[in-house]
Amino acid sequence: MRISLEEAANLLNSGKVVAVPTETVYGLAASLKYPQAIQEIYTLKGRPSNNPLIIHVAQVKEIYFYLQDDINLDALADVFWPGPMTLALPVKTHLIPSIVRADLPTAAFRIPAHPLAQKLLHLTGPLVMPSANLSGRPSSTQRSHIENDFGVSFPILDGGGCDKGLESTILLHRLGKWEIIRQGALSPEDFQSTLGYIPLVQNITPGEKPLCPGQMYRHYAPKAKLKLLNSCKDLTQGTVIGFSDRSYPSKCLLFALGPLSQPDLIASNLYAILRKIDEEGCSEVYVDMDFLQTGILATLAERLYKAAS
Ligand code: TXA
Ligand code: MG
Repeated sequence: MRISLEEAANLLNSGKVVAVPTETVYGLAASLKYPQAIQEIYTLKGRPSNNPLIIHVAQVKEIYFYLQDDINLDALADVFWPGPMTLALPVKTHLIPSIVRADLPTAAFRIPAHPLAQKLLHLTGPLVMPSANLSGRPSSTQRSHIENDFGVSFPILDGGGCDKGLESTILLHRLGKWEIIRQGALSPEDFQSTLGYIPLVQNITPGEKPLCPGQMYRHYAPKAKLKLLNSCKDLTQGTVIGFSDRSYPSKCLLFALGPLSQPDLIASNLYAILRKIDEEGCSEVYVDMDFLQTGILATLAERLYKAAS
């Protein structure tokens, strides 16, 4: 159900949960002031309690208030905020409910760029927002996705389609350097000129606890079984997720992400396509993985590996 900006602010300021647009994906928002509403987010999503939430704020000065250590965020903030960057930082734990941090000594922060999210944050103060999807399923990039997961009467601040369509990139400050603990809409190379180095991407090592708890779980997955193909040359028939500027055998049913020449467009379509193959009742789908997995397409590939795992 569509609600206005004022209605969204009133609901959040009285301890309710609302879906909110961001430039990455839609979030399921609750005010940081209402632990009960934050608990409801975990329940609604079916989210494991050891998977912490990102705190969204309007301005960087709000973040400094919570920090335990003297970390200067200004260089990164000046370039990448508002935008699809999230920073996991050591915090004064008594200032942030443990339910938000899943008991970690750190909390993750982001300043979203979507104009409606910005306006809302000015009316509500800090909001915790995981992606607005049932746990494990593809994220939501338009209102209908949220209605599918949470019902047509769920309150949604409708901001249209999400521009990026992939979640924010999460960085953690460790041993004096920034590391990427979740790939996202910003690629490692995007940080080079600001940091003076390309941050390492921390992949999960089997048996080790991941630095980003969410990486432990199956994610972004449709009901259909995805079969990733490094080459489509032996493909003769079947349902395929692929590219509109590439040709596939005539017996194949193609769900096109967009032309390979437009990586940003492909990224923004991913979750809508993963949801569409379920709506169409597909049970098994081939995915054309024969593309250069750099920049935003490295994140797209990572999401597909996770969705197929
Ligand atoms: O683009 C985004 O980041 C979206 C929009 C709504 O802002 N949000 C999002 O939230 O993707 P969620 O909950 O779906 O994913 C947040 C990830 C999880 O994998 C969680 O484990 C990780 O952030 N995270 C949260 N707090 C953390 C912390 N203190 N240390 C490490 N990872 C953390
Ligand atoms: Mg998520």
